Amino acid sequence: GAVSQGSSAPLFAKLPEKYKKSGVVKVGTDAAYAPMESMEGNKIVGIDPEIGEALGKKLGVTFRFENGKFDGLVGSLYSGRVDLVMSGMTDNKDRQQGLDEGKKTGKGVDFVDYFQSGTAILVKKGNPKGIKTLDDLCGKKVAVQLGTTYADAAKAQSAKCEKDGKAKIAIETPDTDAEAQVRVKSGGADADLNDYPVAVHVAKTADAGKAFEVAGEPVDAGPFGIAVDKGNAQLRDAVKEALDAIIADGTYQKILDKWGAS
Ligand code: ARG
Repeated sequence: GAVSQGSSAPLFAKLPEKYKKSGVVKVGTDAAYAPMESMEGNKIVGIDPEIGEALGKKLGVTFRFENGKFDGLVGSLYSGRVDLVMSGMTDNKDRQQGLDEGKKTGKGVDFVDYFQSGTAILVKKGNPKGIKTLDDLCGKKVAVQLGTTYADAAKAQSAKCEKDGKAKIAIETPDTDAEAQVRVKSGGADADLNDYPVAVHVAKTADAGKAFEVAGEPVDAGPFGIAVDKGNAQLRDAVKEALDAIIADGTYQKILDKWGAS
């Protein structure tokens, strides 16, 4: 079974006993965020699941991805429903300190950083409202995924708009970024804020490139991190070693190249 095969993997010895026994690390994700993760039939595909698979090989266990609402992923980590979150999740202070998504749990998570991202503004093809910067969003309608750093960014920008004597932003927060994209496409919203590699992918692929475009230049958004419960430092360190190993042997770069996110 998985255990006897796993024990010959290079980093198996680094894992906490629990995972050596079960042979499985459960990973929470929100698979409506191509190319990071998306559903293909009933399979979760993309950069995060492929990185997870490669990490699992180094560690001698299976990374089993489970689809869930992004807004609930950190909660699933706290409750032990999942062991890791890999979901294009931005590593920031709020999440480290447990202040994310207004939940004020005070608990916080640790991150193993693995990808550099930027903020993008996704608009309808032709950019009918001429949006180029966050300041251009004042007085406009923005759809942005619930529980994300971008929902926070939209709120902060709206406050800035008002401070600058401009109209605030009308913000709606659907459960998935895919839904926010639909709102932009239908004209119900003027823009969706999300991660640069995702916006580029969507602009390129949706309706053969005729539905969307990325407005303006990407703004630094900080790294994506693999989130781990603060009480699970041994798993965190094992994952970090496995990540270093897949970077060193070229597997990591191959995955990014395959998904056009290098
Ligand atoms: N990077 C942003 C954040 O951490 C958005 C991530 C959304 N991920 C997803 N799978 N929908 O808040």
